[in-house]
Amino acid sequence: MSRAIVIYGSNTGNAEALAQSVASGFEEGGVEVTIKDVATAKGDDLASYDLVVLGSSTWDGLHDDFEDFYQKMAGLSLAGKKAAVFGPGDSANYPDTFCESVDILEERLKQCGADMVTAALKIDRPMGEEMDEAAKEEAKTWAVNIARAL
Ligand SMILES: Cc1cc2nc3c(=O)[nH]c(=O)nc-3n(C[C@H](O)[C@H](O)[C@H](O)COP(=O)(O)O)c2cc1C
Repeated sequence: MSRAIVIYGSNTGNAEALAQSVASGFEEGGVEVTIKDVATAKGDDLASYDLVVLGSSTWDGLHDDFEDFYQKMAGLSLAGKKAAVFGPGDSANYPDTFCESVDILEERLKQCGADMVTAALKIDRPMGEEMDEAAKEEAKTWAVNIARAL
């Protein structure tokens, strides 16, 4: 059975809600999954997983909680691992930096040599809105599709 880790950074719970939906999609797709808040994650957490999934909201750049982890990733080799990224954002209020954290994390994963298995999932909702059922379902389906393609 493949093993995945989902690491998220979230301020008001939106990226966290998506992370939970992604985790439930992996379970449905037969992937063993661990979910962690980036505030408690370490770079070497990634070593024992086949699939590394990072999820973050954007707050004027990379989510603060991801900064330390992001810096530590710089020296990490993820060659041979698969990876994917997701996150919520707000294109109406932040058209120029919509889901910027997602792009930043995807770039770092590529630099580490990870194989990106799918296009990043960016969920667009106006600021202050919680993730609705449609958003959660989209995140779950995204993960089921990743699991089935492993
Ligand atoms: C101060 C501030 C800055 C933000 N900057 C961006 C941004 O640059 N790009 C973007 O897409 N969304 C931006 N957002 C919107 C949040 O990313 C969005 O509301 C998200 O759903 C919050 O998710 P979270 O609860 O997981 O932190 C910003 C929101 C705030 C309050």
